[in-house]
Amino acid sequence: MKILSGIQPSGQLHIGNYFGMMQTMISHMENAELYVFIVDLHALTSVHDREKLATGTLEAAADFLALGLDPDKCIFWVQSDVPEVCELTWVLSTLAPMGLLERCHSYKDKVAKGVASSHGLFSYPVLMAADILLYQAEKVPVGKDQKQHLEVARDIAIKFNNQYGDTFCVPEPAISETTATVPGIDGQKMSKSYGNTIPIFLEGKQLKKRVMSIETDATPVEDPKNPDNCNLYKIMNLFASTERMKEIHTLYVNGGAAYGYLKLELLDLLNDTFGEARKKKQEYLSDPASLRIILAKGAEKAREKASVTLDLVRDRVGLKY
Ligand code: ADP
Ligand code: TRP
Repeated sequence: MKILSGIQPSGQLHIGNYFGMMQTMISHMENAELYVFIVDLHALTSVHDREKLATGTLEAAADFLALGLDPDKCIFWVQSDVPEVCELTWVLSTLAPMGLLERCHSYKDKVAKGVASSHGLFSYPVLMAADILLYQAEKVPVGKDQKQHLEVARDIAIKFNNQYGDTFCVPEPAISETTATVPGIDGQKMSKSYGNTIPIFLEGKQLKKRVMSIETDATPVEDPKNPDNCNLYKIMNLFASTERMKEIHTLYVNGGAAYGYLKLELLDLLNDTFGEARKKKQEYLSDPASLRIILAKGAEKAREKASVTLDLVRDRVGLKY
């Protein structure tokens, strides 16, 4: 099974990214042909600061490795190191229906949040389709926000196959029910662009401040509360054991859940879960030359795969004469 997913280096990676995609990808290392990459070309649609993009790319790579991704058990690279993806994007863009792209929420949401509208931002889903189809991916683990982009990739693959004959594998999204949308500290979807994240690698006082600012209601401790509309409860549920969650659930329903104490408990859980990874990340970042070697080796492996598909595509559409 070919499993593929990418992540933008557009800011500090957060626990939404971890549960929505990174953890799933890492868990497939032993049982799949795994493709993991840092999508710097996508990030360029919102990051126009040289330092931020370049540093963000190395950091995102260090994050993945620190969390346990083994580059010998997968193909791990930076998107722009495989230029074949840009040629495929162009070919696919000549088939991608405007109406389909115009319906994409992500473009509209980003513009509404202040990202400058540009042709690149609009055609973002076509580049993403090229990312997926170039490697003939079968399954694509993502958070729920990416579901529509996966539908675009599937539509384009089907359209291409109908027009030119069977060429692309039609990919399936893999969206886990429990972690489809991790809420941010304000209860909206956790996202780098909303300023409401709990970054995986934040620590000390800054992390404590972030956790303590998770928004909760003003119900007194002894009163019953509804766990289903409490984002603290939903975040706790990602980290606490099943037994502990049962106890917490009872406290919510019967009264007695003290938000302040629960936040401190969550802080401990975050430190336990990510403490080791934080140290490892610093080790990777202290040796950027080795990190670049890992990524260059990954890109070499990815290019080999990419060139097989692109060669076929060029032939199918008539670019080979
Ligand atoms: P962001 O919205 O923070 O910029 P990305 O768009 O880079 O995050 O997302 C990278 C991956 O993480 C995608 O698969 C996305 O679906 C997933 N993801 C992002 N935010 C969340 C969230 N709050 N809950 C679940 N998955 C998420
Ligand atoms: N658009 C995805 C996001 O914002 C990132 C991405 C780019 C991606 N190319 C991909 C995800 C290919 C899965 C497969 O999260």
